[in-house]
Amino acid sequence: MDFNGSHILSIDQFDRSDIETLFSVAEKLEPYSLRKKVTRVLEGAILGNMFFEPSTRTRISFGAAFNLLGGAVRETTEIGSSSLVKGESLRDTAQVLSGYSDIVVMRHFEDGSVEDFSKASRVPVINGGDGSNEHPTQALLDLYTIEKELKINKKTIDGLRIALVGDLKFGRAVHSLSKVLSLYSNVTINLISPEELKLPPSYLSQLKKSGVVVNESENLEEGITGVDIVYMTRIQEERFKNKSDAIKYKGLLSLNKEIYTENCEPNTVIMHPLPRDSRQEANEIDSDLMENPNLAIFRQADNGVVIRMALFALVLGVVDKIEDTSRDISWHTSKRH
Ligand code: CP
Repeated sequence: MDFNGSHILSIDQFDRSDIETLFSVAEKLEPYSLRKKVTRVLEGAILGNMFFEPSTRTRISFGAAFNLLGGAVRETTEIGSSSLVKGESLRDTAQVLSGYSDIVVMRHFEDGSVEDFSKASRVPVINGGDGSNEHPTQALLDLYTIEKELKINKKTIDGLRIALVGDLKFGRAVHSLSKVLSLYSNVTINLISPEELKLPPSYLSQLKKSGVVVNESENLEEGITGVDIVYMTRIQEERFKNKSDAIKYKGLLSLNKEIYTENCEPNTVIMHPLPRDSRQEANEIDSDLMENPNLAIFRQADNGVVIRMALFALVLGVVDKIEDTSRDISWHTSKRH
């Protein structure tokens, strides 16, 4: 893909060489994301960070990533504070925002909405999650995390065995992740969900067509046996017609120390795109796993910053200019990994 000036709407746009390019730029940007160095390479640029649905990680990490490259951020945090509630169309909104911004990140509750918005935008648009459809940058940071975590045990994504657990029907993070994993060879994916929340057929057939070995099950213990990664997810109650329908699925697939210890190999990595639902009735990852060094959920969230920095640098065409304005930091900074 030619990143320069492109919209990033779906993980389908990426092939393996694009991912290698992105990850190599991310490695180069690690000193900046870890606050060891400062760059002003995007000084003067403005990000329109348009979130029409709740978010903590995606919104803040996109904003932080842009700030860390020297750019400024303007944002909307809910649909109620935008003129969409007055009946303005997404396309008019796109026309207006592209006059105010150099790049837009957008999250919206409708499938396909970000692509629709991009058609009227004069600046690149990045999908920060559209309904239950896709969350491409989450898949990219997940893959970056998987690669780093596996490397510790001298493993690669080729040959990966992963369990995707939870709401596979509505979870856009697993939709994008399953697609990107189909680019790798000798991958086995155990899909573990209640029958009604299985991975939709289109994603399943893409996996099978690309040679991924897929096993479907409703049983957590069976599905996590022998895998390298257990990827837990939340029941996406906001996607159900009635929230009360979601309640019956909460707590069916919860990982705790006992289940982990009895079924997983010692170095099995635990991931979750977050937010995890920590309420007692759901409790996808029990607090008794918090001290487990293989719990990678916050390393995974941290990786969102550097991956999003790399994407901005590539889409705005400044990768070769990052060092030009580079200097060491001059303030106290906490230790980061
Ligand atoms: N993973 C993720 O998309 O988190 P937020 O909803 O907090 O952005």
